Amino acid sequence: MAESIFPADFLWGGAIAANQAEGAYLEGGKGITTVDVIPHGKDRMAVKLGVEERFALREDEFYPSHGAIDFYHRYKEDIALMAEMGFTVFRTSIAWSRIFPNGDEQQPNAAGIAFYRDLFSECKKYGIEPLVTLCHFDVPMHLVREYGSWRSRKMVEFFTHYARICFEAFDGLVKYWLTFNEINIMLHSPFSGAGLVFEKDDNKEQVKYQAAHHELVASALATKIAHEVNPENQVGCMLAGGNFYPYSCKPEDVWAALEKDRENLFFIDVQARGAYPSYARRLFKEKGIVVEMEPGDSDILKDTVDFVSFSYYASRCASADMNDNNSNAANIVKSLKNPYIEASEWGWGIDPLGLRITMNMMYDRYQKPLFLVENGLGAKDVVNEQGEINDDYRISYLREHIKAMGEAIEDGIPVMGYTSWGCIDLVSASTGEMSKRYGFVYVDRDDQGNGTLARTRKKSFHWYKKVIASNGMDLD
Ligand code: BG6
Repeated sequence: MAESIFPADFLWGGAIAANQAEGAYLEGGKGITTVDVIPHGKDRMAVKLGVEERFALREDEFYPSHGAIDFYHRYKEDIALMAEMGFTVFRTSIAWSRIFPNGDEQQPNAAGIAFYRDLFSECKKYGIEPLVTLCHFDVPMHLVREYGSWRSRKMVEFFTHYARICFEAFDGLVKYWLTFNEINIMLHSPFSGAGLVFEKDDNKEQVKYQAAHHELVASALATKIAHEVNPENQVGCMLAGGNFYPYSCKPEDVWAALEKDRENLFFIDVQARGAYPSYARRLFKEKGIVVEMEPGDSDILKDTVDFVSFSYYASRCASADMNDNNSNAANIVKSLKNPYIEASEWGWGIDPLGLRITMNMMYDRYQKPLFLVENGLGAKDVVNEQGEINDDYRISYLREHIKAMGEAIEDGIPVMGYTSWGCIDLVSASTGEMSKRYGFVYVDRDDQGNGTLARTRKKSFHWYKKVIASNGMDLD
């Protein structure tokens, strides 16, 4: 076989998030978080968007995060399966409310620390590097109720305290960290992204960008703390990626696509370049936004990340006439339908070349190593009479995207690794379904929470094992 185009130390693995996998939502002293109050069903979107306040649980509703796939109790079995595929990296998140049930305590919850120490030690046992997100779509509900979540500057203090406790408690076990998962999603899904709930008279843009400023300051401070605790620590930001294409070559469409890209890249521009981008002044003026900053914030923001991580599921499309009626959501971010590409069962465009385009744009812009920490195909799987799951569609999606990532490496981009999303089936963040599956490992659970939770290797499991063993060269 030809020599691999992937570096010898390239990290191969998969990704999950605490709130979509762990379940056990009140065990081990865990506090309730934003995702725990987001129901499955018709009201889900309104709650996620922060337009419907839902602080208390209802008996007539089903909350998928409460049980999820029970990773909390089954992680040893699951990590063993990841090790069997040859993973060298495993991405998960820490549930903030396992460490600080309310979020504003001084002393962490010992049971939460113990759980993650055990989990990360289990990974290390197999030579798997944990890649850990501090905040993946779960803010302790107490912080939402008492402080309005990231509206409040107090959150910077709570988050950095939490971050320091994690860096210290897991020092020697974890060296790859991400601060906020898909930080730009707070603009598109404000409650699930950042715990924001809107009042009737709010200027929503004002609320969102003030919250964004707090997160950006908190992220830069956490990055600095991580380096102080251990200079070996490497910290990344995380973008819900996918470039916008202009719907046509009409200059107005090209401009619309550029503006849409900037809307998302705004966050990474700050985290990777250390200052607000030049276009922010006009953006804020036109939207009537005044971001309150404290003296010293611009110095704090200079602590930039070590690498830029991102998710990529689909490219996006924008035109000057884009509106709520003609655009759908591709991974929550609104996009026009691209007539040149196919789409998944959930309408997410399938565009491997878009990954290469996105990676090239990001490296041209940031000049920092990239890490593709989410990519995959959400699809309905069928268990046949022999108990097998022949997910060729998933293999085909992943194959083409890994090829495109290889092309980006050949284009000269340093790429640290690849963690495909939902390496074991888990709860969908957007819809709350279990039937939107991404895994190499099938989990017997349905959308209403029924099932044995038994784990089964899919066809893609055996395929990915070969991919890893050949360092990305055997994709057949
Ligand atoms: C990303 C998130 O937005 O996409 C994950 O970081 C999420 O949490 C993933 O699960 C896939 O989206 P979905 O809606 O299919 O679960």
